[in-house]
Amino acid sequence: VNETFVDLGVVADGVEEEREANVRATAGEGEMLSFVVFGASGDLAKKKIYPALFALYYEGRLPKNFMIYGYARSKMTTEAFKDKIAESLTCRLDWSKQGGSDCAQKSEEFFDRCVYVAGQYDVAADFKALDAQMCEDEKHVSAVKRVFYLSIPPSIFVPVAQNAARECQCKKGDTRVIVEKPFGRDLTSSRELTAALASELSEEQTYRIDHYLGKELIENLTVMRFSNIMFQPLWNRNYIRNVQINFSEDFGTEGRGGYFDHYGIIRDIMQNHLLQILALFAMEEPASLNAEDIRDEKVKVIRCMRPIEMDNVALGQYKGRLTDGRKYPAYLDDETVPKGSLCPTFAAMALFIDNARWDGVPFLLKAGKALHKRQAEIRVQFRHAPGNLYGERQGRVEHVTNELVIRIQPDEAIYLRINNKVPGLGQRLDQTVLDLQYKSAYGQVQLPDAYERLILDVINGDKRLFIRNDELEAAWKLFTPLLDKIEQQKIAPELYPYGSRGPIGAHYLASRFNVRWG
Ligand code: NDP
Ligand code: BG6
Repeated sequence: VNETFVDLGVVADGVEEEREANVRATAGEGEMLSFVVFGASGDLAKKKIYPALFALYYEGRLPKNFMIYGYARSKMTTEAFKDKIAESLTCRLDWSKQGGSDCAQKSEEFFDRCVYVAGQYDVAADFKALDAQMCEDEKHVSAVKRVFYLSIPPSIFVPVAQNAARECQCKKGDTRVIVEKPFGRDLTSSRELTAALASELSEEQTYRIDHYLGKELIENLTVMRFSNIMFQPLWNRNYIRNVQINFSEDFGTEGRGGYFDHYGIIRDIMQNHLLQILALFAMEEPASLNAEDIRDEKVKVIRCMRPIEMDNVALGQYKGRLTDGRKYPAYLDDETVPKGSLCPTFAAMALFIDNARWDGVPFLLKAGKALHKRQAEIRVQFRHAPGNLYGERQGRVEHVTNELVIRIQPDEAIYLRINNKVPGLGQRLDQTVLDLQYKSAYGQVQLPDAYERLILDVINGDKRLFIRNDELEAAWKLFTPLLDKIEQQKIAPELYPYGSRGPIGAHYLASRFNVRWG
């Protein structure tokens, strides 16, 4: 095992105590955790699930007794499985700086709890064998929690859930199943999937993951809104002119073209990640922080959304570009993408919430691949201060509107643009920012990866950050008519160069609402 890969043990002042408390809370209970990753040989398992599990172990957040089972069709020994996990654990901090010297030892301890079981996804006997192995490992404990992570293509969600539910239900405690997106590709297929899963698992057992809900700044949205009195009175149509929720990536589909072409950017990013952010941003204050109260408010606000008009949508697809002798491929150059595909890799749209709080306020959503930067953020533009005290002077507007920016990634930050007097004898106004940069404010604290937070929530049975079936239904009801129109009318996306700011149509769209994309 490579020694250079880890240091997760960094804690800032004040965080140590909280961690200690959590360690006690999770490690001392005596309940065993059996965690199964279906699709253990795959990309997501390697990129996200193993690093998150190891980080939780390293931080003392897993129960003392736990086992991790990798399950997939690939032939692999447990030793090879451990090597695969080892490769996936990347360095999260310069480990020589902080006390990470026990990382190598911790990783060996962690690998001791990892087992690989090869099996087919549709053969009940293989699941029985997995169950037998788990029962053997669980035989000395009286309380067990089993978590099954469906890290597999959606085409096999149902048979795997069925087999897991029928053959591997926990005999000594709860069984929970994590389902990855996509949850269908329209209202009908999503309902079918929900019904098929519901025939095997209760809603209580089902954890639909949207990893954006596990990101630090998204978790912070509710705290920011409801614990700061200064924001509460401003959070409505009287003070907010428009809201942007932007997602961009500076790389294309890169080998995932086959998957992507079946879904497109609206299903891949907007119907889930961006809509979830919007719901948390716009919902009414929940009765409590309890999962059901929060999800009640989210679903309510999504149900208030106006059907999306095609006129309020701009679509794009990236084309190739040659820059400084380097060739950036077009979406259509991806061999797994069908020739002539009209699949959008970029979309921008204006959405409206027809309720008393948000009536008339445009929510502009934008998501794109192969753009000029990787970033996700929320930008809130406030109305102009009324009156003309610092308004137009000598024919030019001196002050600009206040803007609150919540940068979700990278370089997490929250800043507020305000008008300020330029220091000195004159009366000139300038813009400046009240600025919370996570790096400087919270020093060396390593923000947990979204998957780390979400997996821990599943273990603890906290469903706040998971999508309830009625939320999913409301989200598909909003997007399905638009998706049908785009596909039935074969609407061609506007081409934009790889690495650019996206298609011109998106800028026209924003300008109709007096907005410039941030
Ligand atoms: P993979 O394509 O890597 O598949 C995971 C494993 O499933 C494979 O290693 C393979 O294992 C098995 N598998 C693949 N195709 C089939 C098939 N047609 N029939 C049966 N088994 C198959 O998927 P990912 O790991 O990328 O994704 C897993 C899930 O997570 C998917 O639902 C995906 O949509 C979702 N997701 C993935 C993200 C990512 O970044 N990768 C991001 C967000 C969501 P074996 O052959 O050994 O059984
Ligand atoms: C996934 C999408 O849900 O989110 C991918 O399927 C996208 O296409 C990814 O790249 C982005 O996640 P993050 O956390 O890297 O912003």
